[in-house]
Amino acid sequence: MKRSPAILLVLTAAFSLATLAPRAQTARPADHAAVDRLALTPPMGWYPWNEFGQEPQNETLIRQIADALVKSGMKDAGYTYVGPDEGICFSRGADGQLTPNLARYPSGLRGLGDYVHDLGLKYALYTDAGTLTCSKAMPGTRGHEIEDMASFAAWRADYVKIDWCNTRGQDIVETYTALGKAQRAAGRPIVHSLCSWGDGEPWKWAAAIGHMWRTTGDICGPGRANWAEALKIASLNEKLHEAAGPGHWNDPDMMIAGMDGLTDTENRSFFSLWCMMAAPLMAGNDLRRMTDATARVLTNLEAIAIDQDPLGVQGRIVRRDGAVEIWAAKPLVDGSRAVLVFNTGKAPATANVTWADAGFPDGSPLFVRDLWDHKTTGPHRGGIAVTVAPDGASFLRVSKTNRFPIPPIIVADKYRIVLRAEGASASTLSGAITVRNAGSDELPAWKVAPGLPAWLTVAVARKGKSQTLTNTVSTAGLATGSYHAVVRADNIEPVSGKPMSALYYDVDVEVTGRALGKTTGGNQEPE
Ligand code: GLA
Repeated sequence: MKRSPAILLVLTAAFSLATLAPRAQTARPADHAAVDRLALTPPMGWYPWNEFGQEPQNETLIRQIADALVKSGMKDAGYTYVGPDEGICFSRGADGQLTPNLARYPSGLRGLGDYVHDLGLKYALYTDAGTLTCSKAMPGTRGHEIEDMASFAAWRADYVKIDWCNTRGQDIVETYTALGKAQRAAGRPIVHSLCSWGDGEPWKWAAAIGHMWRTTGDICGPGRANWAEALKIASLNEKLHEAAGPGHWNDPDMMIAGMDGLTDTENRSFFSLWCMMAAPLMAGNDLRRMTDATARVLTNLEAIAIDQDPLGVQGRIVRRDGAVEIWAAKPLVDGSRAVLVFNTGKAPATANVTWADAGFPDGSPLFVRDLWDHKTTGPHRGGIAVTVAPDGASFLRVSKTNRFPIPPIIVADKYRIVLRAEGASASTLSGAITVRNAGSDELPAWKVAPGLPAWLTVAVARKGKSQTLTNTVSTAGLATGSYHAVVRADNIEPVSGKPMSALYYDVDVEVTGRALGKTTGGNQEPE
């Protein structure tokens, strides 16, 4: 018996760095992101390298962290992507294909992805553009770009980080371009994360290839968070602000907030800086033993609102006053603006933030929201004075009104529907996913993209800030076998009408009965 081929809804499209160019050229718009509508706000999730390095990475760890993402409230705050980094995930078989390392990942890399999707999280995987990954424990994609990107799609990855080790003699733009094409040819929408640590100045060209690119060397060695190094990275990344925007982000590396070695003040400042830079928010701490204080930092929706603002502007330093940096130039979608006052000095400092710093006319009466104290004051005229502890940050949102809405933060109960049809007659099956906006407003109804296979229909129902997408499958006319579709739905941010990142999820159908859909007698043999 020949099994029906799985049906994939094909979506057409699109170590330490010593020196960086002082200013980014404006990156070209990310055409592919306009087509796949992925990462229109900076991706959020968790990645293992900063805390764990290579050795303890295995299926158990990733499952435990995925569980902790849900339990800790991180998922509800928008953290979605999770998976192994360089975690000895696969080898290359004699047939040239990647083979999952079942000793470390007993469910296989697809099985781990299913676990992640069933929790309402998205699956991240790692590879390298060269002959081998950095530790040389895994094969790189060199010469196998097409097969490897097909493997990542088959394992249902939603995010692939592509490192730049062991690439001697390779042209960086050609290499990443080929990988981007191979990934799109594999037919699964995937966030494409380039990791050349700033080599080749990706901010100048990578917007046309991927959704984000590392701008600097590693923020720390595994388990060794270093505050001073993080500040150097922030300073390098700050200069590249012109290159960032919806679908194409500067990535100053995974976060160190919550790792041993940082104080609560430093954690808050770190997180404020990353949010102000519209950086991807990939947590790097051990979520299984996170303190309440760290959880409050990483799940502060008022700070996340600045990172996830739909305009996607990367803030920058507009003025220095002694050891105090005034970060601003970050307009937000509702007309408000973010301001960060960061004290790099060793003594408390007071700074006057003017409305000109914030980007408003000097005389305007403005309300000020303190994003860590969660208090609104004002209206103030001309500016305000803030006092900030050493290494501390005052993170503010300034507005003409005293309403400070949170932009859309999408939280799904699951990202995979599994339906099984057994028995001898055709049946109708259904399964639903519920997506909720943890932001302030109700969203318009999600619009399901056309092109679904004939066996699948999807209906959308709104209930306040939640929406249910009910997937109905009719097995009439289907042969026994496995069927798969990726459903895409689109929406807009309600204040600006700007497109939001598309929602994607998988529908799997197993048909094990025979004679399906034939009411006139006679068994229909499977193809
Ligand atoms: C590079 C990357 C890190 C991590 C390691 C894995 O150093 O920059 O983020 O992926 O490789 O070896």
